[in-house]
Amino acid sequence: MSIFANLKTSTNFIFYQAWYVILVILSGCSNESIDTVIVDSSDPKTEQSDTEQGKPGPSSASCSFDIIVGDNLRFNVNEIVVKKTCADVSINLKHEGKLAAKMMGHNWVLTKASDVTEIAAEGISAGLVNNYLNTEDNRILAWTKIIGGGEETSISFSAERLVAGEDYTFFCSFPGHSYGMRGTLNIES
Ligand code: CO
Repeated sequence: MSIFANLKTSTNFIFYQAWYVILVILSGCSNESIDTVIVDSSDPKTEQSDTEQGKPGPSSASCSFDIIVGDNLRFNVNEIVVKKTCADVSINLKHEGKLAAKMMGHNWVLTKASDVTEIAAEGISAGLVNNYLNTEDNRILAWTKIIGGGEETSISFSAERLVAGEDYTFFCSFPGHSYGMRGTLNIES
């Protein structure tokens, strides 16, 4: 065990060293910090079209949202703002990766922020065939099926159950994904 742990640690160490070298090159060998380099890459115009690099940002207020995922554990947006006049909310989820659903499946699930942990835990035992969700749990406000690379799916749900001022979280219920793949949904004030 300890040999593997040491191997893993040293691999991580080399990985971070390599990244540091790359970041230094990217920053033109100046004394800018790594944080500055990352922040500089977030150009709002390129953010939405680039799921691999740009930092996820908020979407503009709308009733319909195009959300992109890939072969990594992130959504391309980390905040959704729903217009207060929306009767229904539409989510179009697109997986631009290559990995199959059983390897790198993603879905979009909406609950109150306080319900995420329990809903995600329940979902693991439900299995892929049930989209890693116990859909009979009415704390789930909206959900899509799990999709794999090259697939897309859409849902539309009533905005009636959404209350301004409540903390809502959207997340992916694939086992292990909800820790990183999550964002907030807010009602436009
Ligand atoms: Co996922």
